[in-house]
Amino acid sequence: MRVLGIETSCDETAAAVVTDAREVLSNVVHQQLADHQPFAGVVPEVAARAHLDQVDAVVARAMAQSGVGWDDLDAVAATAGPGLIGGVLVGVMTAKALAAARSLPFVAVNHLEAHALTARLTDDVTFPYLLLLVSGGHCQLLVVEDVGKYRRLGTTIDDAVGEAFDKTAKMLGLGYPGGPAVEQTAFSGDATRFDLPRPLKGRAGCDFSFSGLKTRVRMAIEALPPGDLIQQDIADLCASFQAAVADVLAERTTRAIETYQTDHLPAGQTGTLVVAGGVAANQAIRARLTDLAAGNGLAFAAPAPKLCTDNGAMVAWAGVERFRLGLQDGLDFRPRPRWPLDPEAPKAVGAGVKA
Ligand code: KG4
Ligand code: ZN
Repeated sequence: MRVLGIETSCDETAAAVVTDAREVLSNVVHQQLADHQPFAGVVPEVAARAHLDQVDAVVARAMAQSGVGWDDLDAVAATAGPGLIGGVLVGVMTAKALAAARSLPFVAVNHLEAHALTARLTDDVTFPYLLLLVSGGHCQLLVVEDVGKYRRLGTTIDDAVGEAFDKTAKMLGLGYPGGPAVEQTAFSGDATRFDLPRPLKGRAGCDFSFSGLKTRVRMAIEALPPGDLIQQDIADLCASFQAAVADVLAERTTRAIETYQTDHLPAGQTGTLVVAGGVAANQAIRARLTDLAAGNGLAFAAPAPKLCTDNGAMVAWAGVERFRLGLQDGLDFRPRPRWPLDPEAPKAVGAGVKA
């Protein structure tokens, strides 16, 4: 089975062809860096127009590089939410048009499910596994029970973790995209110099909070001598911030492991901890979670960094997973700007909860 996947929910225009034998035949990603850099962040309207400019060429390259003809495809999948709706519409309309023109089935993919299932493409992980989903829009702990079946154990009560990286980078003048810049700068920094908080650490449950951490980074910057920040201050703040994030993620995940092992994992089965989403590209966070899994008798899986940040292969793979179960969608499928993986999940404590 060969599926074309299209991703346009944020600032990457991406397309890929993937098979049910877990082969990535092509994976083309166009990053809209130059379009958004002047604004130090993603501007939804700019993103939507850039997707429209790029999507046909990106799909054509993905098809050409895969060596697969249109007649050899089994389905076309596209991210149909959650995300910036202008971009999502571009990807969905493109996929629907291709499906109609080539008489192929269309599969509407939840972007979060695409991140969630990537570890089955890369590492053949079996259900049920514990997933830490860390991206620009989300920070959640979920038990992945099956395709389409998720139990959310915790979520952020304010900012997503990637958002915290991006805002920290912006305050430090590191520009956009922030996560990779903070990680690079942190290498030459002293993580013990700034005493930053670990929000919600030690509290019951598995929810997250990052807005207080971001505020404390701003206060630390303001407390430094007036004038331009010197390079060592920036590096030390990046390292201190990254260490605080890694601590929080590890502590919240430790709690989720307890629930997963007690309530979800069948007796005798070795469980797996999976990390996915753009922030999972961060080496310090991966290293921390690797140790945590080993210490708790769990296997660990993290997709290669280029499959953690948004890409078409994860969408094509989610398309494979759904289509081989007989799941497909009509051309009247309406894109969903909000689309929680576990609609039954209790609300996190606090305001402004993200789905
Ligand atoms: O999954 P993703 O590509 O898009 C969303 O679905 O949101 O995640 C993007 C987020 C951004 O906030 C970006 O700064 C962050 O992932 N990110 C990183 C790293 N690479 C990307 N954060 C920390 N370290 C990285 N190496
Ligand atoms: Zn994403």
